[in-house]
Amino acid sequence: MFSRRVVAASASMLDVVRMAERAAASDAKVLLTGESGVGKDIIAHVIHAHSERAGGPFIAVNCAGLTESLLESELFGHEKGSFTGAYRERRGTLEMAHGGTLFLDEVGEMSLRMQALLLRFLESGELQRVGASERCERADVRVIAATNRNLAERVSTGEFREDLLYRLRVIHIQVPPLRDRRDDIRPLVAHFAAARKPPMEFTEAALELMEKYRWPGNVRELQNIVEQACWQTPSSTVDVGHLPACVHLTDTLRQQRERRRQVADDLYEALATGAYTFWEHVHPFFLSRDITRHDIRELVRRGLRTTRGSYRGLLPLFGMQPQDYQRFHNFLAAHDCKVGFREFRTANPESTSERRVKLPEMPVRPRAAAHDAEGTRN
Ligand SMILES: Nc1ncnc2c1ncn2[C@@H]1O[C@H](COP(=O)(O)OP(=O)(O)O)[C@@H](O)[C@H]1O
Ligand SMILES: [Mg+2]
Repeated sequence: MFSRRVVAASASMLDVVRMAERAAASDAKVLLTGESGVGKDIIAHVIHAHSERAGGPFIAVNCAGLTESLLESELFGHEKGSFTGAYRERRGTLEMAHGGTLFLDEVGEMSLRMQALLLRFLESGELQRVGASERCERADVRVIAATNRNLAERVSTGEFREDLLYRLRVIHIQVPPLRDRRDDIRPLVAHFAAARKPPMEFTEAALELMEKYRWPGNVRELQNIVEQACWQTPSSTVDVGHLPACVHLTDTLRQQRERRRQVADDLYEALATGAYTFWEHVHPFFLSRDITRHDIRELVRRGLRTTRGSYRGLLPLFGMQPQDYQRFHNFLAAHDCKVGFREFRTANPESTSERRVKLPEMPVRPRAAAHDAEGTRN
């Protein structure tokens, strides 16, 4: 029933929607958790809109934005003259939300004293305004709380009351980060692009790039990027060139990493089988800039995995003589290619003596490194 407003295509987001539907049918308190921008607010809204309280008010309070005393009077209200500046009496949001829903956003930021006051209200339903001598109103309010904090962790450090956590978390809905539900990316892009006037479209290449991006700011970031890209596009079709650099960067870095691994794998294979030697082949490739120091480092890492962290063990593995040790060492140091050996000390042993097996000759240039010149040189 929420499909018109909350876009959900991934299995995990469909689960979230299903739980929200069940929550809307009840009057139980709900705790929404998840990173910033995943959609906690929108889920809270739809729970209210589909509940029996839909005709009543929906009031949101951000617990992080107010000092403790302001938050107290915001929630509970105050009597005239109860503190400097309290010129007239004021109703609190808990009173105003009577018959409806109060959305307590960023509830993890509440002070311990405020947590105690909130707990007292949740247990009794009774409200006491700041400066009032006795409890006056009773309020019928459904509370939905949200946080991007790990509340269980805050309980263990004494920053959040365990009894309040149990009160708030009758129904717990965890909204996963966008990078863990990539099936939602295309429908979300389509959703935000269609909302534009005139509606916009994204090319397949642009969508593929967006599917690979990490989205640290989740749906909020996706919405912003879609809107920016639409503004920058003169036509009705957004292509990769209209997407900001951050979206491209992840892809470029990933491709570079993959390429580097491939080059190191190929070189390693050629060295370990005896088709290449380090000085006759790898060194010239480096000098002619067919491979970079990143490739050499990756190769050394690959070798150290086999020799369990022994640089000396690399000599026979890479087709060098024992007396080459100093020269090899100097070369790596001069070009900043040295790799820490400690992490390889406990790695799986792969005996070096079994290595130098002669296999058929390899072509003179390594497969990937020869033709696939990379832009980065340093
Ligand atoms: N599943 C979704 N479908 C449609 N819009 C979404 C969805 N999730 C988030 N949004 C939109 O993304 C933005 C950020 O969501 P919000 O609920 O404010 O995140 P949070 O409260 O978790 O920080 C809002 O504009 C919201 O409407
Ligand atoms: Mg929010």
